[in-house]
Amino acid sequence: MTSVFGKVAVLLGGASSEREVSLLSGHGVLGALHEKGVDAHAFDPAQRDLWELKREGFERVFIALHGRFGEDGTVQGALETLQIPYTGSGVMASALAMDKWRTKLVWQAVGIPTPRYRVVDETADWMRVVAELGLPLIVKPAREGSTIGITRVTRVDHDELALAFAAAAHHDPLVLVEEFVVGTELTASIVNGRALPLIRIEAPQGNYDYHAKYFSEETKYHCPAGLSDALEQEIRSTCLRAFDIVGCSGWGRVDLMLRDDGSYSLLEVNTSPGMTSHSLVPMAAKQAGMSYADLCLEILRGAHVG
Ligand SMILES: Nc1ncnc2c1ncn2[C@@H]1O[C@H](COP(=O)(O)OP(=O)(O)O)[C@@H](O)[C@H]1O
Ligand SMILES: [Mg+2]
Repeated sequence: MTSVFGKVAVLLGGASSEREVSLLSGHGVLGALHEKGVDAHAFDPAQRDLWELKREGFERVFIALHGRFGEDGTVQGALETLQIPYTGSGVMASALAMDKWRTKLVWQAVGIPTPRYRVVDETADWMRVVAELGLPLIVKPAREGSTIGITRVTRVDHDELALAFAAAAHHDPLVLVEEFVVGTELTASIVNGRALPLIRIEAPQGNYDYHAKYFSEETKYHCPAGLSDALEQEIRSTCLRAFDIVGCSGWGRVDLMLRDDGSYSLLEVNTSPGMTSHSLVPMAAKQAGMSYADLCLEILRGAHVG
């Protein structure tokens, strides 16, 4: 098998808490690349040393890892050192996007809307936080993914707040409390400089748990999202700007909440989002007329170093 890309490694699995999904993403990508005639091979960094990529003559890497070690700049740094082109954002943007607090600081600096928040520690004056941000509140670790460690707090109850803090702090000492944005959940997929059609996510009432959200039959996805053309375009261009200002490149996904009054707030940017055939970026690509296999090839085409 030959192609312009040479020998390609699909990085999958890895050591993060999102290993399971990464295996699904990676095997999906692998199958699609084979279908397109690419000489692609699975490579699990949890089982093998990354330096073997060089020794085995890999010329390009498709990163299908999620979460820490794969999405946070570390693997990207290793690939930079090896001088092997890889998909997605570089070292700095991957690391920055992994940190929801610092991402918000950058967005705030250029006027990109994001929910009001406080950084808290175990000495937090909860009554004051509630007075400032209102209820409900979302408590989340700054550097996790897949809704891990996130709690929605609905009452002024010191114990409930302390418990929510402990759940987040278990994953990351850096904990954020955000105002809860009531409205519609949207996500914007970005591929090679273009924002694809928005997806509207309709989760069962009050369901923010990852497994429930992504594996439940009850969760519905709407693409097109059903917004007016003007609002759809405005949100897409804000998300593209938000992606660029964090320094992201290649492909990724921006999560946001839209209020009933048409205002919206960006939650985070994912630099290595899910790539199973049922994932959100493939869904948006399909709406834009791009098949799953074409999307994988398009992402691979964007691989770079430096
Ligand atoms: N401030 C908020 N207001 C309303 N819902 C939120 C807020 N923050 C998070 N959520 C909900 O929790 C989910 C996960 O939050 P997010 O910040 O995207 O973290 P991650 O996806 O990395 O776990 C969102 O998709 C949304 O459903
Ligand atoms: Mg998210």
